[in-house]
Amino acid sequence: MKKVLVATDKPFAKVAVDGIREIVEKAGYELRLLEKYTSQDDLIKAVEDVDAMIIRSDIASREVIEAGKNLKIVVRAGAGYDNIDLAAATEKGVVAMNTPGQNSNAVAELVFGMMVYSARANFSGASGTELRGKNIGIHAYGNVGKYVALIAKGFGMDVFAFDPFVSAEAMEKDGVKPVDTIEKLYSGCQYISLHIPANAQTKKSIGENLLSLMPKGATLVNTARKEVIDEDGLLKVFENRPDFKYLSDIEPDNKAEIAEKYSGRYFFTPKKMGAQTSEANINAGLAAARQIVDFFEKGITTFKVNK
Ligand code: 3PG
Repeated sequence: MKKVLVATDKPFAKVAVDGIREIVEKAGYELRLLEKYTSQDDLIKAVEDVDAMIIRSDIASREVIEAGKNLKIVVRAGAGYDNIDLAAATEKGVVAMNTPGQNSNAVAELVFGMMVYSARANFSGASGTELRGKNIGIHAYGNVGKYVALIAKGFGMDVFAFDPFVSAEAMEKDGVKPVDTIEKLYSGCQYISLHIPANAQTKKSIGENLLSLMPKGATLVNTARKEVIDEDGLLKVFENRPDFKYLSDIEPDNKAEIAEKYSGRYFFTPKKMGAQTSEANINAGLAAARQIVDFFEKGITTFKVNK
């Protein structure tokens, strides 16, 4: 009997786990759960004799992948797969997949939750500002970026996007103004919403050069990955521009310094929670379970991300 491990340091909602169990057991497989584990050793132990693994931001390092003696497939229930050692997976013949689009709306809604909170003076009762009429620049127009555009239009914002991998026509069809350079995006928008993945090209790519271009009343919203920010550059912008605010779904490494010096100009979630809704857990979790069954039963590898 095939064994499927759901290893989630940040557990799915119960309703999603129930749905995953149903799919897995209906296929005749066994479901194993490892939630809120405290060390990587727990994961290494749990993966030892399973055939498949579903993870979220959990780290599927080389050590973890190599520990899975029977492991054939790892599905990241979510979008970003920077937490999987893809080279190790490929070397070991393990298929790595993600579930693109399944948690995108949840992340996009959090973007606006943080933006309204910040624009309204952190709900302090002091006079704030409105989103209507402001420009928002979407940096990378993928699944989350599209939902951000949709919601931004509801707020009456002017929506711009930069993405070298998406055609201007596709953006225009969504009522989004395409911008052909990253510098133009940053210099034209009070709000920038980041949706780039974390990889060798993007890590530390958002820093002083780009952020200094933003117009007065600048707010950077990061629901992507903290690694894409050049935190030294970020601190310089905080220092040089009293109008600059930073909202991030997960604390930056230099949170303590920002909190000490720039009170009222930041908001950080204590734990990444953009995708932490029942709906997103159901969408991504069940998609992951179905992809595993389809892989074993029909050899389908549609969302494979490694070579
Ligand atoms: C993703 O890449 O899908 C999001 O960052 C969500 O991550 P999570 O599953 O750890 O909440």
